[in-house]
Amino acid sequence: MTKFNFDEVTSREGTYSIQYEGTEMIFGKKGLAPFWIADMDIKTPEAIREALKARIDNGIFGYTLWQTDSFYEPIKKWWSERHNLELHNEDIQYATSVLFAVSAVLKSKTEPGDSVMITVPTYNSFVGILEENNLKRIECPLDLNNGEYSLDIDKFRKTIEENNVKVYLHCNPHNPTGLIWTKEQQEEMLKICEDNNVYFVSDEIHKDFIRPKELFYSVANLFDTYKNSIVITGLGKSFNLASLPFAYTISKDHETQREITKLMNQLHCGTVSSLALVALEAAYNDCGDWMDALNDYIHDNLVYVKNYIDENLSDYMSLEIPQATYLAWIDFSKSGFTNDEVKKAFVEVGGLAISPGEMYLDPTNSHVRFNVGFRREQIENAMKQIEKSFKHLSENK
Ligand SMILES: Cc1ncc(COP(=O)(O)O)c(C=O)c1O
Repeated sequence: MTKFNFDEVTSREGTYSIQYEGTEMIFGKKGLAPFWIADMDIKTPEAIREALKARIDNGIFGYTLWQTDSFYEPIKKWWSERHNLELHNEDIQYATSVLFAVSAVLKSKTEPGDSVMITVPTYNSFVGILEENNLKRIECPLDLNNGEYSLDIDKFRKTIEENNVKVYLHCNPHNPTGLIWTKEQQEEMLKICEDNNVYFVSDEIHKDFIRPKELFYSVANLFDTYKNSIVITGLGKSFNLASLPFAYTISKDHETQREITKLMNQLHCGTVSSLALVALEAAYNDCGDWMDALNDYIHDNLVYVKNYIDENLSDYMSLEIPQATYLAWIDFSKSGFTNDEVKKAFVEVGGLAISPGEMYLDPTNSHVRFNVGFRREQIENAMKQIEKSFKHLSENK
């Protein structure tokens, strides 16, 4: 029995949450039960809420410095305790958001029209960010065998060599598949990038959501050897703080980190949120046990979903429990229904907003990304609605 109650019901009504209020924009309908955008229906830990309340009671939220121990120390503590890595202040820099930092690195490493490589399926905003920066998207498809994704390293090398790639956008853990990259794989990838003068950007925002018995390995562990690389991460996912913009980078390449700061200064968006800094301290100093308990809860949600599929939906779907993230990447190819049919049935019959795989450039177009960062009861209801949707599709074939 955990001391944290992840089953607590908290309404998001009136909070303007994109998760709820944004379903019409993406799914064409209001009032859907949402399991799509990557935030959770689970409250930020009490230690963070209490720290924020105390800071709010101070009542003054003027311009704030991030270059202090209250920024560096919690980050160093968390990485030392949880990722087994001793960081140095000079290698850590604040950034406005993870995607801001990704965009800033792209701007500093490329000219319009240059090639940037991603693996597919991919995190959808990587597609947008390349378009917005007028960059050519080079796709390296992951291999899919019996529900498990893997990377063919020769394909990775060849795709880089043949396309004059300037930057590789790495996602670890990988959104949407939930894959964790091993030390050996990342060493090979870094080596290929180094040999071909490709800058390696590692988005590690999902790093804290790891299944029991799995291990996350950051490329930051390899920075002594591979310097043309940067890690970008934050607290938005781990502690459900996406609307308090805050991220940080880790790198030995301080020049590129300075480029990020320069862009923040040019665009006048570099003022750190005083509330985000308070949240950082509380989160990384006091919320490790909350994170562990949440990981257990998320794991149980995923097991529930897998069992439900195996017992009731095996004619339609299959799921391999992802190694990381709170995103279940469910394969519906067995059902024989198309992406459009499934998407429509989920919305019209199930009343569900679940992201279709096409958003993530799913090469097989036969997956949905189901966010399980929700209360068990919500997940149970969603599974019933998914079943209802497939039954409807079968009856109306
Ligand atoms: C892989 C990945 N990177 C970045 C982000 C967004 O980060 P931020 O809001 O800090 O820009 C997300 C959000 O879903 C994500 O999944």
